[in-house]
Amino acid sequence: MIGDVAGARIVVTGGAGLIGRPTVELLRQKRAKVVVFDRIASAVSGVESVVGDLRDDRAVGDVMANADAVVHLGGIPGPNLEDDVTTYEVNAVGTYSVFSAAARSGVQKVVYASSINVNGLPIGKRRAPTRIPYDETEPVSIADTYSLSKEANEYAARMAATAWGLQLTGLRFPLVRDLTAGNGAAFADHVRTALRLDPLRQAYEGWSYLHAGDAAQAVLCALREETPPAPGILVAASQTYLIEETREAAAMVIPDVPIGDLCGRDVGLNLERSSSLLKFQAQLLLEDLGLDLLASVQEGRR
Ligand SMILES: NC(=O)c1ccc[n+]([C@@H]2O[C@H](COP(=O)([O-])OP(=O)(O)OC[C@H]3O[C@@H](n4cnc5c(N)ncnc54)[C@H](O)[C@@H]3O)[C@@H](O)[C@H]2O)c1
Repeated sequence: MIGDVAGARIVVTGGAGLIGRPTVELLRQKRAKVVVFDRIASAVSGVESVVGDLRDDRAVGDVMANADAVVHLGGIPGPNLEDDVTTYEVNAVGTYSVFSAAARSGVQKVVYASSINVNGLPIGKRRAPTRIPYDETEPVSIADTYSLSKEANEYAARMAATAWGLQLTGLRFPLVRDLTAGNGAAFADHVRTALRLDPLRQAYEGWSYLHAGDAAQAVLCALREETPPAPGILVAASQTYLIEETREAAAMVIPDVPIGDLCGRDVGLNLERSSSLLKFQAQLLLEDLGLDLLASVQEGRR
């Protein structure tokens, strides 16, 4: 953990991206000295922007010199966006390079982006979760390169802690978007389409999501708290984006999955580690922007 982000030199990889931008803005507000490392220049004023590639070990090493903390958000954020080898190189080897350079530079804390896909359930040759809500102990069943790269990140974090004494926290992000875009309409459209195209994937993700600004808050909490290096911590809004109660949705889409402790529209993930280890709770829910934005699980059944 770093005691105070004010005055700390914090390198944010992927700082020009969806989660990176609000993270950089939040850290700036907290008076950190932010250095963005990305293949695209940062548009946020008042930060140092270094354009480089995560696959360039020397550039990664140079940017870490004198850093107090690293927030590692750079990478390919999903399957089928790049070819498999590029995805693995950037996400797995690039992350190893970040951890290794951070350790060499005496960085106090690394926060890294893991994913809800780390166990491989929602994509590839998928397997239903053993229960809803599920937690970070859900068994792994990986059949795609993106999930494999995220699993590799969590193994690399374990090794970096054991071998080099590095302090790390992984955040298993769910679907992250800027909820405020179009006053929630863009996100509502996105989930309706997702429910139509791939209802099982949404169910296996527990119908979870997180506002990008809340993802930035989760990063800030992770910088301040000491946690195990892995497994990464599930962070998400406490409620689903569905209009139906979660039990009702599960009975319709995944009737064979046992249901545990769930009330109303509770998200299908167990967020106990997020609140106990990070003291994190998402602030913005889709319904805060309008009840009419909630989607029906029936979208996927039409
Ligand atoms: N957005 C989500 O829904 C989501 C969900 C789960 C996990 N994540 C993870 O969170 C992290 C951030 O995701 P995001 O949504 O902000 O993605 P994003 O694509 O918006 O941002 C990623 C940033 O990384 C940079 N980048 C990509 N390849 C690079 C390279 N070779 N060298 C240097 N920079 C490079 C990109 O330019 C971009 O600015 C990723 O690790 C992603 O896997 C995101």
